[in-house]
Amino acid sequence: MFVATSRREVPLLGGDVTEGVVRVGDTVRRPTRPSTPSVHALLRHLEAAGFDGAPRVLGIDERGREVLTYLEGESGIRPLPPYAVTDEALTALAGLLRRFHDAAATFRPARDAVWEDGSNDDRPPELVGHCDVNLDNVLFRDGRPYALIDFDLARPTTRLFDVVTALRHWAPIADPVDLDPLQRDLRVGPRLRLFCDAYGLPPRDRRRLLDLARLRFSRSYVIMRARAAIGGGWARMWAEGAGERIRRAGAWLDAHQDDLHAHLV
Ligand SMILES: Nc1ncnc2c1ncn2[C@@H]1O[C@H](COP(=O)(O)OP(=O)(O)OP(=O)(O)O)[C@@H](O)[C@H]1O
Ligand SMILES: [Mg+2]
Repeated sequence: MFVATSRREVPLLGGDVTEGVVRVGDTVRRPTRPSTPSVHALLRHLEAAGFDGAPRVLGIDERGREVLTYLEGESGIRPLPPYAVTDEALTALAGLLRRFHDAAATFRPARDAVWEDGSNDDRPPELVGHCDVNLDNVLFRDGRPYALIDFDLARPTTRLFDVVTALRHWAPIADPVDLDPLQRDLRVGPRLRLFCDAYGLPPRDRRRLLDLARLRFSRSYVIMRARAAIGGGWARMWAEGAGERIRRAGAWLDAHQDDLHAHLV
């Protein structure tokens, strides 16, 4: 579909990487990338499956940008608002991710589908996950997460890997020095359990969760370093300390893994 641009363009700021995200009326325009057709197929599947927690694809505009529906709400941008760190928000996020996974599980990507590279699980993929469930890629309404946005890093993975990525940001699994002040006093162990309960994560996945988080940190570090070498937004993130943050998060997890694990068994 060809969508005309005739309205005022309002820049949307949020994440770190993608430049040129704008709102035009009830739509969002974003630069395309090689994986865009695959992501659009996923979003169309989610729509057909009745999952309403993601933008709809409207097409490509005359400037070659993807056109998505604009969803009302706020994304979790620093400084975080108090509602973003509540247990209620975490529980709602777990439910949202579970509904997304259940809808995505019936999606069969084309054999030649192109996906963005990224760290991943050793286990065979179960679905196409979001793979970037950071706070700024989630929209809140009435203080509760209700939609996922920014599917740029979506790729075949396991449910658990997507859960681990979400928990890295939301429990959060991080060195407190890298956190927003409102997150520093959160009790991460109980929050891991709360999320797992709300998601309905089976015991075998809970037992593996923190080992997979460690694996993810080491793989993410290597992949982010490689991406930074390409330049652009990734290079800027790396220069601003993204690698150091991953290392600190890994060290924090090492120091607390046994305590945290006790909440998962
Ligand atoms: N479909 C949408 N509906 C409403 N707001 C959106 C939508 N898409 C993006 N936004 C807003 O624009 C901000 C930036 O969008 P997006 O996450 O797509 O790009 P980015 O964060 O700059 O990219 P990246 O995460 O790759 O760094 C979001 O935090 C959100 O506030
Ligand atoms: Mg984003």
